[in-house]
Amino acid sequence: MNKEGVLVVGSANMDLVVFTNSFPKPGETVFGNDFQMFPGGKGANQAVACSKLGGKTYFMGKMGNDDFANSLYDSLHSNNIDLSYLMKSKESHTGMALITVDGKGENEIVVVSGTNMKLTCEDLKNSNVLFKDVKIVLTQLEIPTETVMSIANLASENNTLFILNPAPAKELPDSLFPLIDYLTPNETELEILSGVKIKNENDIKTAAYVLLDKGVKNVIVTLAEKGSILINKNRFDLFIGNAVVAIDTTGAGDTFNGALAYSLSKNKTIEESINFANYSASISVTRRGAQSSMPTKQEVKQIIQ
Ligand code: RIB
Repeated sequence: MNKEGVLVVGSANMDLVVFTNSFPKPGETVFGNDFQMFPGGKGANQAVACSKLGGKTYFMGKMGNDDFANSLYDSLHSNNIDLSYLMKSKESHTGMALITVDGKGENEIVVVSGTNMKLTCEDLKNSNVLFKDVKIVLTQLEIPTETVMSIANLASENNTLFILNPAPAKELPDSLFPLIDYLTPNETELEILSGVKIKNENDIKTAAYVLLDKGVKNVIVTLAEKGSILINKNRFDLFIGNAVVAIDTTGAGDTFNGALAYSLSKNKTIEESINFANYSASISVTRRGAQSSMPTKQEVKQIIQ
């Protein structure tokens, strides 16, 4: 049987977003200009990005038994995502994120994980078939590290390409790195994972090599509006980004990852896929919210070079 589609395993959060001119300093009170709630969570966002672009997409995650879960389910369902492996639990509340977006479109995010951190290795037990059938497995770090480890092992056992978006970054077991086909940190995450302070491109290379030496096959460092860099033992290539005026950068990294997975699942080359992901992410920052800002394939086709 031909492998097809993308499985995203990860978090779903309700995003409570305040738009303000500038971030408050510690102890300072500032006024916001607007408040909105958006469906979010890095896992759910990446699944929506992939599905909106036209990819067959499965989302596996855990939500609570509350109103936020219903709204998040509706968003995923209306975006055509297969939710057969979505779980509900009474152990905690559905994940949520408190987000502040400033006048330049930058964000600050506090995540309260709730049920996302209750997604266990045990929960993956009956999903072997899915890991075998899909072309790509994509996950992030808003679920327990042991679960990420099991996901990576299942992908490897089933010869399925594994992408890890190490966000938010934290210390990872050494045994995880050789299982990663594509690791997609931003510069801050790369610093945390490698222990190398990044000030320039040379530092990026040094930091990426720390991870390649641990067994990661490819590192793709996302650089926001500057684009992204692909690094493996044979190459160090910059893919220039598409300059736009950003109004909300929330979910740009998720759009990049969902688009990358989508494109690779359609047998595009890694060069085509990174370029496609750069352009997809550039559209998402011109609109508010995470899932609400993600482009269709048609929109990306109109601007891609
Ligand atoms: O990457 C953006 C996402 O991070 C938000 O949607 C928020 O929920 C947090 O998970």
